[in-house]
Amino acid sequence: MFGLLQKGLFRLEPERAHEVALEGLRLGYAFGATRIAGSCVSDPVSLMGLDFGNRVGLAAGMDKNGDYIDALGDLGFGFIEVGTVTPRPQPGNPQPRVFRLPQAQALINRLGFNNKGVAHLVERARKRRFKGPLGINIGKNFDTPNERASEDYLTCLDAVYEVADYVTVNISSPNTQGLRDLHGEQELDTLLGALAERRQQLADQHGRCVPIALKVAPDLESQAIPMIAEAVARHAMDAVIATNTTIARDAVQHLPHGKEAGGLSGAPVRSASNTVLARLRKELPSQIALVGVGGILSGDDAAEKAALGADLVQFYTGFVYRGPDLIGEAARAVRDQSASVT
Ligand SMILES: Cc1cc2nc3c(=O)[nH]c(=O)nc-3n(C[C@H](O)[C@H](O)[C@H](O)COP(=O)(O)O)c2cc1C
Repeated sequence: MFGLLQKGLFRLEPERAHEVALEGLRLGYAFGATRIAGSCVSDPVSLMGLDFGNRVGLAAGMDKNGDYIDALGDLGFGFIEVGTVTPRPQPGNPQPRVFRLPQAQALINRLGFNNKGVAHLVERARKRRFKGPLGINIGKNFDTPNERASEDYLTCLDAVYEVADYVTVNISSPNTQGLRDLHGEQELDTLLGALAERRQQLADQHGRCVPIALKVAPDLESQAIPMIAEAVARHAMDAVIATNTTIARDAVQHLPHGKEAGGLSGAPVRSASNTVLARLRKELPSQIALVGVGGILSGDDAAEKAALGADLVQFYTGFVYRGPDLIGEAARAVRDQSASVT
């Protein structure tokens, strides 16, 4: 069934296909079809003070505005991450800005945080029925200079605090100029310090401490990883999400669209993502959760991340190429992997 749907969708321009697929999903949800198409793997786990039905989540970027939380959640994800959202709405980069590389089971995107702004997302999140943990991924507007980046992240943290189960701080999109400079020692210290302080104030105010995850790039110098792990631990962050898309092109430059600018996702990012994941697991204290994302296209790929130390996994590109079947397949594989080491 998904094969047929995918054939039709792949005839459309990728961004149009994305809209059609999500609207179709919304319709399917209204008629109870998402529950049938999805899976319901039970693998309950508590992490960051949250209860997950299983360890497989939807990665950020598919539902940037929180418009499809219930339909996506109904497919059987253990958790959903929406965003990236910025304080003000912004259109993102000019189209075309998403490209399929089917031979490599990959995508390249340079969307540039197109989104309807944080106020819209908060309204959508407030109305959700999805019972699993909802992560809200926050970023900065493209025209906010890096010296003032913390202000944008704080604005978003304030706005989403009440409705988010966890908040992801995205410093790793390659499509917002200079964003990845926030991985620098000084920049990261300033940003995480500001977020930790504000989170404490918000926790006192709301009587609830919302976990914060940091989402990092796969293209890190190896010496950056211990520094990032140390900063995350020092500022009492709760999780690291490894990783976002890559700017490397070696694996795909010979393919149609292989030289497009942007972030490469899917199978070609798996190895770099896994390297960062494994290094982080070694460097991070065990109470800090690790979320593995990048190149999951099968249950084995998901299990590999669990074996490397991921407590949870997410995917985006695998959903485009494999459809909802991948959710159950990955959830079962991760459950079996986790059971084999406990
Ligand atoms: C079209 C597209 C848009 C994305 N948008 C975001 C985003 O807004 N924020 C974010 O943190 N990651 C975003 N990502 C990155 C994914 O969440 C994920 O980290 C990355 O694609 C690697 O996982 P995958 O190989 O399973 O796709 C996006 C990825 C794609 C393909």
